[in-house]
Amino acid sequence: MIHRIIYASSAKPGLTKKDIEDILDVCRRNNSTLNITGVLFFSDGEFVQVLEGRKSDIQDLFSKISKDNRHENIEILIDEDVDNRYFSQWAMAYAVMDENDFRSIGGSFDIRTISDFKTYLQRPDAYIGSIFSEIIDRILDQ
Ligand SMILES: Cc1cc2nc3c(=O)[nH]c(=O)nc-3n(C[C@H](O)[C@H](O)[C@H](O)COP(=O)(O)O)c2cc1C
Repeated sequence: MIHRIIYASSAKPGLTKKDIEDILDVCRRNNSTLNITGVLFFSDGEFVQVLEGRKSDIQDLFSKISKDNRHENIEILIDEDVDNRYFSQWAMAYAVMDENDFRSIGGSFDIRTISDFKTYLQRPDAYIGSIFSEIIDRILDQ
């Protein structure tokens, strides 16, 4: 059984590209050791992160991330046990998203901003799996 948490947060004002690179270095080092996979989206000062792995590891990591002062306004969007990972190839993929990227994954749904994306992910009828496979195909470097 895999556990998945998807949360959103706001980058602290003044967060630099270097700060994000530092975060990604640590993510990739720690997550590969724990077999945690996922993706970190960044758009217009907001993060959405998908974390997948063993339940206790995901809960421990999320509690560490929640205390990180490089972001704030942390809001859990999805917290559930699942059968499969979406991002099995990525210790932590990173995707900077703009309006065109959101439109290209949204299909018939009008997703333009990270705020629309957050709203969509929480819809009970959301096709999250197909949105994430679009992201893997179109946006992430393979
Ligand atoms: C938006 C965001 C996402 C993060 N994602 C992860 C992550 O996936 N894995 C991780 O180990 N640390 C992540 N961190 C960093 C943790 O908050 C923490 O600084 C780090 O895990 C400490 O690692 P250490 O105990 O090896 O020093 C993230 C931080 C931020 C701000």
